[in-house]
Amino acid sequence: MSLTFTSLHPTFAARASEVDLQNLKDKDILEQIREAMETYGVLVFPQQNFSPEGQLAFAERLDGAIHRKTSSRVLKKNKYGDEAITDISNVDHEGSVLQRHDRKRMNGLANRLWHTDASFEDPAGRYSMLYAKYIPEVRADTHFADLRTAYDELDNSIKEEINDLKVQHSIVYSRKTLGFEFTEEESQQMPGAVHPLVRYFPKSQRHGLYLASHAQEIIGWPIPEGRLLLRDLMEHATREAFVYAHEWSLHDLVIWDNRMTMHRATRFDDTKYRREMIRVTTLDMPHEHSTG
Ligand code: OGA
Ligand code: MN
Repeated sequence: MSLTFTSLHPTFAARASEVDLQNLKDKDILEQIREAMETYGVLVFPQQNFSPEGQLAFAERLDGAIHRKTSSRVLKKNKYGDEAITDISNVDHEGSVLQRHDRKRMNGLANRLWHTDASFEDPAGRYSMLYAKYIPEVRADTHFADLRTAYDELDNSIKEEINDLKVQHSIVYSRKTLGFEFTEEESQQMPGAVHPLVRYFPKSQRHGLYLASHAQEIIGWPIPEGRLLLRDLMEHATREAFVYAHEWSLHDLVIWDNRMTMHRATRFDDTKYRREMIRVTTLDMPHEHSTG
């Protein structure tokens, strides 16, 4: 059996043909998915049937090490009993839609800033897999930006200037830009991390910008100057031509590579409509399954 991928955007993102990922064990097909991730950066798998544990087990089969240090862990006990299974929803543990001033809602609103998952950790996030367990009656798309094409489209002089720069990422910083404050104790659990501004992907021999709302400062630069450059690059990378908007269907699984894309949630009336997604994110560790 082999999968086919149908392109969803001129430069990245594709929809996969029918496959049951929860029960997928076939090593060849897992490898086809990894290869397609390298080509497309974002893959949509319609009509999945995941339990939370099944989704986690699939993520482990596809990519290995799992990200467990999510910001939700410092806020509230995980509803799925495992920090690897992240509750991306606007409901409380009893299933009621969160009140407007609820702290979990406020924290979750930050997903509406362009970001990459866990860029404030080291190792950072590699693949994120978001499963649509329940979708609202109104549209609540997720936007993805193609950071490899965004890099390609920069002027050579800017590429030279930024190629060796390093960036401090912090979730405490990005939440603060929205007016959401972690306590001193919470902040200490999330000290941030430094990553290169430009990543290189040996398999596809392409470069990508590595940006996120969490990007706080350019190491060694005056802070305002670094922030201005980061803002310019964010503006460039999120131009409409580089963006794919995913309109969710119930039980879609979308996998994206955080090293070569950014994403954001979009606004909808989340105090009225229920939206429940489950996310599992892998860590950017050396590949166990590497095909070279
Ligand atoms: C995430 C995320 C966006 C969305 O799960 O990491 O940013 O639309 N989600 O829910
Ligand atoms: Mn995210």
